[in-house]
Amino acid sequence: MKLWGGRFTKETNELVNNFNASISFDQKFYKQDVRGSIAHATMLAKAGIISEEEGKQIIDGLNSILEDIESGKLVINDEYEDIHTFMEANLIERIGDAGKKLHTGRSRNDQVALDMRLYTRDEVLAVDDELKELLRVILRIMKENVDTFMPGFTHLQKAQPVTVAHHFGAYFEMFKRDRSRLIDIYERMNYCPLGAGALAGTTYPLDRELTASLLDFYGPTLNSMDSVSDRDYVIEFLSALSTIMMHLSRFSEEIIIWNSNEYKFIELDDAFSTGSSIMPQKKNPDIAELVRGKTGRVYGALMSILTTMKGIPLAYNKDMQEDKELTFDAIDTVKGCISLFKGMLDTLVFNKARMEESCKHGFTNATDAADYLVKKGVPFREAHGIVGQLVLFCIDKGIALDDMSLEDYKKISPVFENDIYDAISIKTCVNKRLTLGAPGPDVMKQVIEFNENYLNTI
Ligand code: ARG
Repeated sequence: MKLWGGRFTKETNELVNNFNASISFDQKFYKQDVRGSIAHATMLAKAGIISEEEGKQIIDGLNSILEDIESGKLVINDEYEDIHTFMEANLIERIGDAGKKLHTGRSRNDQVALDMRLYTRDEVLAVDDELKELLRVILRIMKENVDTFMPGFTHLQKAQPVTVAHHFGAYFEMFKRDRSRLIDIYERMNYCPLGAGALAGTTYPLDRELTASLLDFYGPTLNSMDSVSDRDYVIEFLSALSTIMMHLSRFSEEIIIWNSNEYKFIELDDAFSTGSSIMPQKKNPDIAELVRGKTGRVYGALMSILTTMKGIPLAYNKDMQEDKELTFDAIDTVKGCISLFKGMLDTLVFNKARMEESCKHGFTNATDAADYLVKKGVPFREAHGIVGQLVLFCIDKGIALDDMSLEDYKKISPVFENDIYDAISIKTCVNKRLTLGAPGPDVMKQVIEFNENYLNTI
């Protein structure tokens, strides 16, 4: 069934029908399509373009279609080109002539622009909700691990001691920025394209302010050609989703490293890991690996839509139908990844003793040993050299700085006294880092409190 048979003298080639149709994927819009049509019909009746009675019949008809789809009584099938055709045909079947008036002053171009925008708008909020849940788990872990020491790395080499709270706090900031990106997108996209018609508006006296407000938009869009051909918000959303995946992927990479036999910093819960079909000893971090892997497909969706849009002259062109499948897939992928990742984090256990031991054996307190000398009057460059000699001595003996005898310290520099042990204890090293944003427990607690407030307000 088609909406446009009139000027054609031949049946469409069957392959063309299949190639052209979008109902297999745009049926996801059934709710948005009904909602948009109800707003349009309400406005048409208010503006006197159709009668009150016709408006009522249309709205009741649309609501009954929605009910029947949701109860499974009405199945969306691919006899129709797209969800818009399906809805209109069903409406006409149910209410007769009044149904034929619904499309007055409307084109599928502004209809699909509206449906896509309504769908995306809901999903922007849904992803934001998922991120908020993830942030709650991260904050819980931060609170419980203000004094769980671990090495901080640069170049994947142990650098200086930090805490689990501090390390997780870095991801808290990333996901917080991701949320604010989503909110920005929402603000920019929340204008209603309905009423743009095919591209040049319409000759009917539509009340676009009314439809915009019925659909909870801030207002109508201001250029009808842009309204039907704008997919910037899809690109921005896919870009934000790509950034979320980039963050999740980096975090996954760390989980995989921490979970490796060599590190053993964490133990993943059995419910969130998988085994090998041949190697009985294996417990693999598949969730983290899949999240890392799926990042590629979300980036792919972004590249795809950017490329699709780059050569499209104004206004609507059918290329734009390609915005849907990849966007749907990216949204579902990201929501799934956030939720799985949250479960994995929520159940993992830190091997605290091993993490602290790792700080010592990686000389993460070497900078603090140099600072100790500086406090006793040794110029920093000289102190750096002296600590270099200490490190060399320890590597040779296979010990940590903490394990050297005072006698050995003094052999390298007479400035060392018994207080060196306290000065380079991992605890002291972390506690002394008290600038805002550092891992020292006092400032860490301040940041945690700030972030707790943030989660309670935004
Ligand atoms: N299925 C189309 C899409 O997704 C709907 C708009 C069709 N408009 C048209 N002029 N062919 O973009």
